[in-house]
Amino acid sequence: MRIRTMTTADLGFADTLCSIAGWNHTLDDWRRFLALEPTGCFTAENAGGAAGVATTTTYGNKVAWTGMLLVHPNARGQGIGTALLNHCLEWLRHRNVTCIKLDATPEGQSLYEKLGFRTEWPLARWERTVVPAGLHAESAASETESCECLQPARNPDAVRSMLDRIEEFDTKAFGVSRRKVLASMLAAAEFAAWLPPRADAEPQGYGLLRRGSRSYYIGPAVASPSTGRSVINQLVRAASGRPLYWDIPDAQTEVIALAESLGFRRQRPYLRMHLGENIAPGRPSLQLGIADPAIG
Ligand SMILES: CC(C)(COP(=O)(O)OP(=O)(O)OC[C@H]1O[C@@H](n2cnc3c(N)ncnc32)[C@H](O)[C@@H]1OP(=O)(O)O)[C@@H](O)C(=O)NCCC(=O)NCCS
Repeated sequence: MRIRTMTTADLGFADTLCSIAGWNHTLDDWRRFLALEPTGCFTAENAGGAAGVATTTTYGNKVAWTGMLLVHPNARGQGIGTALLNHCLEWLRHRNVTCIKLDATPEGQSLYEKLGFRTEWPLARWERTVVPAGLHAESAASETESCECLQPARNPDAVRSMLDRIEEFDTKAFGVSRRKVLASMLAAAEFAAWLPPRADAEPQGYGLLRRGSRSYYIGPAVASPSTGRSVINQLVRAASGRPLYWDIPDAQTEVIALAESLGFRRQRPYLRMHLGENIAPGRPSLQLGIADPAIG
């Protein structure tokens, strides 16, 4: 078995592994991972060819993420997953990253603990498959007027100005700047909402609605729970009744109550974990929805 740098030729295989695992990522998400970290995404090969993949995403050298760890079912149980993960950690250490983070499934928790990862906070995937009768009209009518909204594909010029306005606010919440990730996600987003609409006012919140292979996805979404309500209502409305996923920190009880009132159900838990001193924790209380378990 050998591990090498991923290339664009591997993206079809990587996308197939996601489908097998039932994950929500798309080929465009894979293109993004590779574009963000061209030498930090990896493919494992055994005698039969490509067998597994994993990614890293750095935010300067303070914080980095590792994710998208997937091994083909035919090649599991032979140490490939562990080797890929160790390869990612080694690559990040060579870049002098202080704190490595990941969002673990419960099955992965003990493995990560053995490697020294510590729990930062729990979160969960929430899912809405069916729109409860009467709910859609209700959210349409309430608290939506204070947001500014954008369909990025129809208005690429507005994307940069939104990015300029939300970057500093987002950095407060996330802990480090993730401008390159936000720029890429925003440009490809189906819909974006933020507030207040006035360009000269302090940003108070924003959220994105993005396509997935199985379901639309709400996130990242950053705001205080009270001001975030109108952002979330806009995103849910924009989804027009299509299935939705939303990854919400467990501590956001007010947001979870909103999700439940909009018809979301808890699907599965994750655990945000970190290795190395958590030097840029940000303000989790402002994170109403993460961007992606693979990159934070
Ligand atoms: C998890 C996964 C990557 C492990 O790959 P693998 O090549 O079989 O891993 P290894 O052979 O190195 O694993 C050895 C052990 O650690 C476990 N393991 C390794 N990495 C793991 C991880 N990231 N999450 C959960 N379990 C993991 C394996 O299940 C196995 O456990 P066992 O010996 O008790 O059966 C693979 O099962 C997979 O692709 N699963 C679907 C996607 C997924 O859940 N990814 C992890 C998200 S956190």
